[in-house]
Amino acid sequence: MLNFSKLAIVLAAASMMAACGKKEEAAPAPTPAPAPAPAVAPQSTVEVLHWWTSGGEAKSVAELKRIMQDKGHAWKDFAVAGGGGDNAMTVLKSRVVAGNPPAAAQIKGPAIQEWASEGVLANLDETAKAENWDTLLPTVVADVMKYNGNYVAAPVNVHRVNWMWANKAVLDKAGVTSVPKTWPEFFAAADKVKKAGLIAVAHGGQNWQDFTTFEDVVLGVGGSKFYQDAMVKLDAKALTSPTMAKSLETFRKIKSYTDPASPGRDWNLATAMVIQEKAAFQFMGDWAKGEFAAAGKVPGTDYICAAAPGTANAYTFNVDSFAMFKLKDATAQKAQADLAAAIMGVEFQEVFNLNKGSIPVRLNMDMAKFDDCAKLSSTDFVATAKTGGLLPSIAHGMAIKPAAEGAIKDAVSQFWNNDKMSVADGVASIAKAAATK
Ligand code: GAL
Repeated sequence: MLNFSKLAIVLAAASMMAACGKKEEAAPAPTPAPAPAPAVAPQSTVEVLHWWTSGGEAKSVAELKRIMQDKGHAWKDFAVAGGGGDNAMTVLKSRVVAGNPPAAAQIKGPAIQEWASEGVLANLDETAKAENWDTLLPTVVADVMKYNGNYVAAPVNVHRVNWMWANKAVLDKAGVTSVPKTWPEFFAAADKVKKAGLIAVAHGGQNWQDFTTFEDVVLGVGGSKFYQDAMVKLDAKALTSPTMAKSLETFRKIKSYTDPASPGRDWNLATAMVIQEKAAFQFMGDWAKGEFAAAGKVPGTDYICAAAPGTANAYTFNVDSFAMFKLKDATAQKAQADLAAAIMGVEFQEVFNLNKGSIPVRLNMDMAKFDDCAKLSSTDFVATAKTGGLLPSIAHGMAIKPAAEGAIKDAVSQFWNNDKMSVADGVASIAKAAATK
C-alpha cells in the first residue's frame, strides 16, 4: 500500500529532495512570444510531473509540451531528476498528501492500481472511449492502465529493457569480431576489451541500474519461465534455487568489468562513456538509444543494439504512462483530457518515441521513420507476446508491488556493492526481501 497515513513522516525529507532535484519551469510569459504564438490564449496551466531530465529524455518531453501548447495550454514542467523515478515518486507522494497534486504524473505498472485505490486518480474513460483506446492498445497494456475496468492512466510508449549497447569502434579496437550472444561469449569479449585498456562495462550506481543488469542476467541464465517464477511470482523455491545462485555469480562477475568510479553515476553518464568510446558495453533499456540519437550516433554504424546475452527470445517491457489527479476546476479537467488524448495521438506517439528510443504503444503505427533497433523491438514485442517471452521489468516497476520491488532492489544492490557477501547470503537476502508486503 502507499501508506498515506505514514507519509507525513517522510514529508520533510521529500520536500528537501524536491528543493534539490526539482527543476520547475514557470509558465511561459504571455507576451511577447518569439516563436509563433499559440492559436488561442492558454486555457489552463497543466502541471506535469516526470523524471525525464537526460538529453534524450528532455528532447522527448519537449514534444509533449509543444503539442499541449499548440492546443492552447500552458505547460508547467515538474521535472524531478533521478533516473528510474524513485525521487519523483517521493516528491509526488508529498504533494498529494499536502492536498496539492499536479494535473498529471508519470506513474507506471502496479503503482497505478495502488494510486487509484486511494481514490485520487481521475477517470479517463470519456477520452479513452472517444479515442478508441480499447482497440488501439495491446490488452496487456490496457489492463494496466485500468482500475476496476476504468482507464486511469494514458500509456506513452513501450521500452524494451533487455538490451545490450555496444560501441562499434571500441569492439573493433579490442578485436571483438561478433556481438556476444551468451554470457560466456560476453565475458570472452569483455576480457579482450579489458586487455585493450578500455572499460568493458559502463555502469552507473543506483539500485535500479544494478537491477536492470540483474534482471537481464536472471533472464539470460534461467530463461523466461524462471524469470516469471522467481521475479514476477516471487516463488520461494525459484528464488532459492541453484539457478538463482548461478545468476548471482554471473552478476558479480560483471562487476569486475566495471570501472571504480561507477558508484553514484547517473545512467546517462554511463551511456556517454559508450558513446565517447571510453567503454564497450552498457546494459540498459532503450532510453539509452535516446542518448545515442541526441548525440547524432547511428545504429549499426556507430553503435550496436543487441539483446542482452541469452535473452534474444524474450522481451522485458517497460511502459511509461501518465495518470491524472482529480482536480475540481473544469478548465483543468479539459486540459487533462487534452493531455490524455495527445499522449495516445499519432503525432505524439511518433515524434516522442523517435526521440525517446522506445516504440509506440499505439498499435498499427507506421514504423517507416524508426531505426533498425526500434523495428527489431517492435517485431520482438509482437513475437514474444505469442510465445510467452513477453515479461514485465521489475527494475522499472512493471511486475510487482512497490514495497516488494524496493526491498528486492536494495537486496540486489547490497550484494553488488559488497564483494564479501557470499552468494548463499545474497540468495537468502533476496528471498527475504521478496516476502515484503
Ligand atoms: C525508466 C523510465 C524510462 C527512462 C528511465 C531512465 O523508469 O521508464 O522512460 O526515463 O527510467 O530515467
